[in-house]
Amino acid sequence: MDLSPRLQGIADQVPAGARFADVGTDHGYLPVWLILQGRIARAIASDLRAGPLQRARETATQYGTADRMDFRLCDGLTGISPDEADTIAIAGMGGETIAMILSAAPWTRQCRLLLQPMTAGEDLRRWLGENGYRIDSERIACEGKRYYTILSVTGGEMPTQTPAELWVGKQSDDVLRGPWLDYMMAKVDRQLAGHRAAAIPDEAAISALEEVAEGIRTMRKELGS
Ligand SMILES: C[S@@+](CC[C@H](N)C(=O)[O-])C[C@H]1O[C@@H](n2cnc3c(N)ncnc32)[C@H](O)[C@@H]1O
Repeated sequence: MDLSPRLQGIADQVPAGARFADVGTDHGYLPVWLILQGRIARAIASDLRAGPLQRARETATQYGTADRMDFRLCDGLTGISPDEADTIAIAGMGGETIAMILSAAPWTRQCRLLLQPMTAGEDLRRWLGENGYRIDSERIACEGKRYYTILSVTGGEMPTQTPAELWVGKQSDDVLRGPWLDYMMAKVDRQLAGHRAAAIPDEAAISALEEVAEGIRTMRKELGS
């Protein structure tokens, strides 16, 4: 089984022997791959909805790992207790959903969290900083024209984050950092263009985004080509 670059970027950060839970597992590729590699002995695969959880069961059955997996139908971490997991992946969801899942499970400050927001990364980074989590590193993955960031997070004090750092992160020495900054710059530029074209432009939003754009441009210059 081959993982996509995004899922591989998460899998690479799961420590050997971890008590691993994949929240919002859907297809279940991540826990199944980790068990097949012998990186972990067992895994919990959870999902909010029965259909995706059934897909995970089918993947596990297909690859012969079902007897080493627990399948939990639950919202976020509500069906998982603190003594069952020390490494938790929450991937492929919006940043707000990830924050909501963590806010209902403060015990996750004792865990290694691998978070991969599809949207609203800036809201997630802000929320983490305001709620006793720190980002130790960020890894970037590219699939086609899309870039993704994977945050490796533990409990602790977050260093201050500038508005631009909230958007693009800063704890990354990934080789894809340059293209990631370009990708996010284009996203901020599109949002700015949308605001400026509005019948009644939101000047506060425009000036906040201009500050973000300036910060990303500076980071890009410092990084070089
Ligand atoms: C796009 S899929 C991502 C699947 C996989 N984690 C990945 O990254 O490829 C999102 C999954 O998260 C599940 N989900 C959404 N909100 C959730 C929640 N609050 N708790 C658990 N699962 C959730 C959805 O049912 C869906 O199966």
